[in-house]
Amino acid sequence: MKNNPVIGIIGGGQLGRMFIEEALRYNIECIIVDADKDCPASGIASHQIVGSISEEAPILRLGEKADILTYEIEHIYNQPLLELEKQGKKLIPSPRVLQIIQDKGLQKDFYSHHKIPTAPYVLVNKPDEWKLAVEKYKWKKFVAKSRKEGYDGRGVQFMSSNDLKSDKNIPFREPSILEALIDCRKEISIIVCRDQKGNIKMFPPVEMEFDPKANLVTMLICPAQISASLLKKAEGIAVKVVKAMNGTGIFAVEMFLSKINRWYVNEVAPRPHNSGHHTIEACYTSQFEQLLRILLDLPLGSTELIRPAVMINILGSKEFTGSYYLHGCNEALKIPGVYIHLYGKKESRPMRKLGHITILGKNIREAKRKANQVKRKISVQELKPVKGV
Ligand SMILES: Nc1ncnc2c1ncn2[C@@H]1O[C@H](COP(=O)(O)OP(=O)(O)OP(=O)(O)O)[C@@H](O)[C@H]1O
Ligand SMILES: [Mg+2]
Repeated sequence: MKNNPVIGIIGGGQLGRMFIEEALRYNIECIIVDADKDCPASGIASHQIVGSISEEAPILRLGEKADILTYEIEHIYNQPLLELEKQGKKLIPSPRVLQIIQDKGLQKDFYSHHKIPTAPYVLVNKPDEWKLAVEKYKWKKFVAKSRKEGYDGRGVQFMSSNDLKSDKNIPFREPSILEALIDCRKEISIIVCRDQKGNIKMFPPVEMEFDPKANLVTMLICPAQISASLLKKAEGIAVKVVKAMNGTGIFAVEMFLSKINRWYVNEVAPRPHNSGHHTIEACYTSQFEQLLRILLDLPLGSTELIRPAVMINILGSKEFTGSYYLHGCNEALKIPGVYIHLYGKKESRPMRKLGHITILGKNIREAKRKANQVKRKISVQELKPVKGV
């Protein structure tokens, strides 16, 4: 490559870190903005602007230092990015796409405007509108979502119409969405990659497996176990979403498959996604390398799966907050096809994503069996200070 550009990343979390790991293979320099000088990407970025991603100045400073800008988190101050794009700065994906995605209400309106199937919804602004909306649609059960700033399920509440008997049960005072509860058979994600020339490739779909009691994702499985005809429909919808957004970059399209085999788009993340971590070892090209290729205007890599894979998140224990270590690595690593990734977060907090493990298998059954073994062996343990030191 002639004249290597410098890439600027807004956010220095694990997604930024794994992106930089790939950029280093191409000898590309990456600069990050993050308020935390110990953030996961800090150790491998060539430079860090220590500043808030919610403020204008650090973002504009990044714009001065880098040739191409991208972001690894949606909750960033978008106004300066819109300005930079107007001035001709290369920003991938465009902040105009981010504008839609940052507000779940605008996102839902976008889907209905473009005739993209999504769960029926109502936008509400004040608590007294909640009851009216739920009565109108005769929802016994529904899902309430805060329009902005939600992530990892925070800002999402499963509710019943009975909850609205008292105003106290209304979880969000701010503008929100109320959505029909979809009776899900499966929940999948498809990562769509679209380069600067408009070429498209998709990674094989990933299926989330849930613990039905805790309603928590227990593992992510690739490829998703769905029929070829259902998959074709889902892929068609995912591509339609990205084309409608006129998006360049990589986009994780989260979808529900209902018990009567209907697809609904839940939401889109315009960046590498938790459901694409297995691509590092399981696919010819990882999601991070794919984004890098798009930013550098190189050909899209093959998204073909080399081996079926299961991915499990390493989450902080509910029992403590503080220093930690991963117990059980010695045992887990005796199993072939097990890849541990730790993000270098200094502190464990309940349910915080500290890393992930990808497990490859000859088939999904084998990968799942090994993943369950790994789960039994691995745990996040508190690292207690040694007395007297
Ligand atoms: N309308 C719905 N019907 C059924 N389940 C839903 C619905 N909306 C959301 N969920 C469930 O709640 C989860 C979280 O919702 P959503 O993805 O909108 O929130 P989020 O905070 O952006 O989460 P994340 O960051 O984990 O993607 C979904 O993955 C799905 O399991
Ligand atoms: Mg989601």
